[in-house]
Amino acid sequence: MSQYRTPPLEPVQISFDIESGSLSPTGPTLVRRAADLQGCFKNERSLAELIANGNPEIYRVVSSVVPETSRELPQSITTIRPGSVAGELFMTKGHQHPDPQGEIYFGLAGEGGVIMFDGINTSWVEVQVGKIAYIPPGWAHRSINTGTKDYKFLAVYPGSAGHDYQWVVNHGMGLRAYLEQGELKLKDFNLT
Ligand code: F6R
Ligand code: ZN
Repeated sequence: MSQYRTPPLEPVQISFDIESGSLSPTGPTLVRRAADLQGCFKNERSLAELIANGNPEIYRVVSSVVPETSRELPQSITTIRPGSVAGELFMTKGHQHPDPQGEIYFGLAGEGGVIMFDGINTSWVEVQVGKIAYIPPGWAHRSINTGTKDYKFLAVYPGSAGHDYQWVVNHGMGLRAYLEQGELKLKDFNLT
């Protein structure tokens, strides 16, 4: 038996259902609504209006049963709704892995992409069905729905990676994603 095995987790088959954006057997589900994304969008007044106007769900993350512990390889499906706040496309909060480890995002449905920022350099990687975005160690990452339907992707990452949301509050994300005349426009994060 491998010295890395962590009983009681046994080898297991995990199914994913793209329609419902769920994994089975399923673990925790996280739902983030407009109010959970305060501080993320440039136009805070428009976000406040969205919160007052029903505080809709922006995205959800359904995890598998594999735990976020060292040497495990957890997975989750994120579903981001289509929409924008004053033109800035719906996004995830974004985070840095405090234990710098890579991650992959595998496109399942819809259209989107990942803004990445290492504190100096910025990157944008599109994600469509059947494509993988690779997030190298040390790059903060934020996902964006660039389409008109739900954007869904499967994330696979080392269980020890962790999630540092404060890093993004402190450093920003380098870029912001807007939809203008039907076109994706990436703009400087600190645009005025
Ligand atoms: C895990 C990972 C994804 C995100 C998910 C939600 O390391 O990158 O599973 O956690 O897409 O985004 P955040 O965590 O930024 O709210
Ligand atoms: Zn991550």
